[in-house]
Amino acid sequence: MKLGVFDSGVGGLSVLKSLLQTHFFKEYIYYGDTARVPYGVKDKNTIIKFSLEALDFFKTKQVDMLVVACNTVSAYALEILRSNANFPVLGVIDAGILATKNTLLDKESKILVIATKATVDSHEYKKGLNKEGFFNIEERATGLFVPMVEEGIFQGYFLESAFKYYFDNLTYIPDALILACTHFPLISSSLQQYFGNNTKLIHSGEAMALQLKQEYDLREKYKDIKLSFFASSDEKKLRDIAKLWLD
Ligand code: DGL
Repeated sequence: MKLGVFDSGVGGLSVLKSLLQTHFFKEYIYYGDTARVPYGVKDKNTIIKFSLEALDFFKTKQVDMLVVACNTVSAYALEILRSNANFPVLGVIDAGILATKNTLLDKESKILVIATKATVDSHEYKKGLNKEGFFNIEERATGLFVPMVEEGIFQGYFLESAFKYYFDNLTYIPDALILACTHFPLISSSLQQYFGNNTKLIHSGEAMALQLKQEYDLREKYKDIKLSFFASSDEKKLRDIAKLWLD
């Protein structure tokens, strides 16, 4: 079983990390479009075009399944990727909704989705959560967290200022905070501290691992795995960050 993992850049490593812990696959091929990141500020047609180009890359690698780690791509390009691939293509939004449904028993729960502007504008989380009977949902674009994480800012003064900037006017404490962007799990400890322990954090990577287990019935199987990294620019930088983020 060869799994492809696609992201607009390095952020998808947070999803790859959770997937590696499952031992569901023998081989992992990660591709980040580092030359053209961020996708989260781009328009739909551009996101679709770049995503289809990435799909061509995964076809040459003959993957058995593709996980789209990027929320922005999952929001705009999942259907077109599926119709152009002859292997399953899974997106993190469906996984995140499944994980939220499993986490929150009360349909009145307040859910805050934080994501890139493009993901928020798509309202894919809201639509999916509505279908599951959740209606207390707010989606907020918190794009500044992306460059901060890329700079290695996971805590401290700058991040706290950004929390203030984005969340100061929140009038409620969310029951669940959906980390609807690949980069956000890296600041999850700081977010948890800010919102308090009553807020459940939904992490795309863990959600995807859960979906693979629940819906594809995959089981822990492979101990020795093969891991390859590819990027549209500066593969060395991607590998260096992978060493850091994946321990
Ligand atoms: N990977 C993107 C996402 O999860 C964040 C970075 C970007 O904007 O490309 O939405």
